[in-house]
Order: sequence, then structure tokens, then C-alpha cells
Amino acid sequence: MTVTYAEKLARMPGYQAGVPTGQAPEAIAAGTIAQLASNESPRPPHPKVVEAIARAAGSMNRYPDPDATLLRRRLADRYDQQPGRIAVGNGSCDLLLAAASALCEPGDEILYAWPSFSMYPYLPALTGAREIRVPLGEGDALDLDAMAAEVTAATQLLIVCNPNNPTATHHPAAAIAAFLEKVPARVTVILDEAYIEFQTNDDPDASLDLLKDFPNLVVLRTFSKCYGLAGLRVGYAIGSSNFRAAVDAVRQPFSVNALAQAAGAEAILHQDDVLERVEETVAERIRVQEGVRELGLWASESQANFSWIDLGENDEATVLTGLSAADIAVRAGAPLGDAGHIRVSYGTEDEDGRFLTALAALLG
Ligand SMILES: Cc1ncc(COP(=O)(O)O)c(C=O)c1O
Repeated sequence: MTVTYAEKLARMPGYQAGVPTGQAPEAIAAGTIAQLASNESPRPPHPKVVEAIARAAGSMNRYPDPDATLLRRRLADRYDQQPGRIAVGNGSCDLLLAAASALCEPGDEILYAWPSFSMYPYLPALTGAREIRVPLGEGDALDLDAMAAEVTAATQLLIVCNPNNPTATHHPAAAIAAFLEKVPARVTVILDEAYIEFQTNDDPDASLDLLKDFPNLVVLRTFSKCYGLAGLRVGYAIGSSNFRAAVDAVRQPFSVNALAQAAGAEAILHQDDVLERVEETVAERIRVQEGVRELGLWASESQANFSWIDLGENDEATVLTGLSAADIAVRAGAPLGDAGHIRVSYGTEDEDGRFLTALAALLG
């Protein structure tokens, strides 16, 4: 007799990390490996955030605040929202999984664009709901009309990734509002804005105004990208108090650890630092996008901290092997849903220069 596991295990897609396990974090920290595979910030957290983490470290004998009171209050102040409408999670992934678990069961449909964030397929796999993938439209941007057209009586959860990972494209809040008008109010719409701070099309907080008109909307954000806190795992969702209660009900009581709570509560106070980080990212974005296009490759219109590059006639595996030999880690397109592409995150000026030089040498 052998142990048997739940049937859903066979449905789980599995996650491929950006840098293969076993690669030394020291090599990344020392800059030997240019880690451009995970859409992280190349810049460490704000010094005040590091201090807040160090202060909190002395109380690790205690469980964290189960309500994350300070973090939720600071987020509420920053966004002019009621704390009761803010849920926090062990990264925004935690909130995505909890949302699916609280909302979906077999017979339901979960709808999202594809290619989009590689965690979304976990949600139908775990809950037994049916997955509806809607192809991207022109320029590898989300086709919001096509997504609205796929809504059925069974649709329970709809996820809009804006800017979209991995294609980096962005729709302004007015387009999201027009889309939401077409979606029935009984469907929960998660607007996944992990990269929203980096876009320059629109006020980054414009989408929050939509919460007033669309009670079925949940805006999902993270400290992992622009705030440089990927290693701590902390994200948040602003929606209805019912949504918060639902995701809290299905998770363990202490899902956000005390260091992450302290870091997030401090980081949100430093919006000047956010602006500097965005400026640096935009400068690198212009450089990488132009550099790639000068090599004769197509790159989508990036509004994020990464580029999505069509390799054209060039073989994806050969390019990846060549970059890896030059100690540059980028993400392969095939596992992200579109072979013949790579996704490269913006690093430091030096790392991005290394990437462009190595890519030019590979393309000959
Ligand atoms: C679109 C999108 N949403 C959510 C996340 C998850 O972020 P975290 O769980 O680190 O908050 C990511 C991470 O890459 C992402 O690309």
C-alpha cells in the first residue's frame, strides 16, 4: 500500500523560479550574476525599512498581530480607504490563492488573459473550477472586449493583470472602467496591479477611484516590486469588507509575519523613495527598449519594470544558453505561454548594459 494524494495534485502547474535553485544568492548580491529573471527591484529596501525590520526582529518570540493593524491603518491612510476594506497577505500570491479558495468551486469558471501571470493557473487547479484563458490582443496587450465577451453565468472570478506580466502592457483606468461596466456585479474582478507604480500612462492611483462605483472590484498590490521587498512576502488587496472577511476566513490566522508587517508599515510612508525608484526604472526601460529595438527585435510597449521581447528568427534556447553563459538570468518565453520570447527585468545600469551587449553578441 502506498500513500495516495489528492487528485488535484496532478492538475497543479508547478512554478519555475527565475533563477535556478542552487544558484548562490551571494553571486547575485555581488553582481556576478545579473538577476534579470524575476521582476524584482535591483535596489535594496529604504534604510528606514531595514531599521524597522531590525527593530521588529527582537520580538520574534511573539506571534504577529493577526489583524496587521498598523500596516492596514497606514495603507488606509495612504489610499484614503477604510482599514476594514484592506486585506493583507504573505505576498499578493497568498491573496490570489485565498480569493480562489473563498470564491470558487467545481462548476465555476475563472477567467483571465493568456499569457498572463504564471500563478493564475494554480487557482482553477486548486479549486476544481474551470479555467477560461482569453488570448491577448494587438501588441500583446490584454483584449478587454474579448475578456468581457467570455463572461458566462458560471464566471465567478475574473483576473485582469494590469500592467500584464509577462507582456508589460498597460490599459489606463478609463479602459478598465469601461470594461467593468460590461461585467455583471456578481462576478468578482481582481485587478492585479503588481507593477502599477511603474506605468506612466495614468495616475497610478486612478484605479482606486473605481472602487466607489464597482463593489465587485478588488485592487491587488504588492510590496515585492517597486518597494524592493520581494524577500519578505507582503501584499495587499483593497476591495469590500466582505472580500476581506472571505480571504481571512480561509487562511491561517498569522499569514503575514511580523517582520513583513513592520517593513510594509514603514515602506508605505516613503513615497518619495517610490518616485525615485520609478524614475530609475523608467530611465532603464527607455534604454533597454531602445537597445533591443536597435538590434532589430520587437518589444511590446512596456509600462512595467521589464521588457517582453520577440526573438523573431532566433532560437529561444540558444539565446537563453548564451545569456546564461554570460551570467545573465532572464525568463524563457515558452514556460510563460509564448515560445520565441524572453522576458527581461530591468536591473542596474551596469546589468542592463551587460544584457544588451551580450544579446547583441549572440544575435551576431
Ligand atoms: C502580476 C503579478 N501579480 C502578483 C505577483 C506576486 O507578487 P507577490 O506574491 O510577491 O506579492 C507577481 C509576481 O511576480 C506578479 O507578476
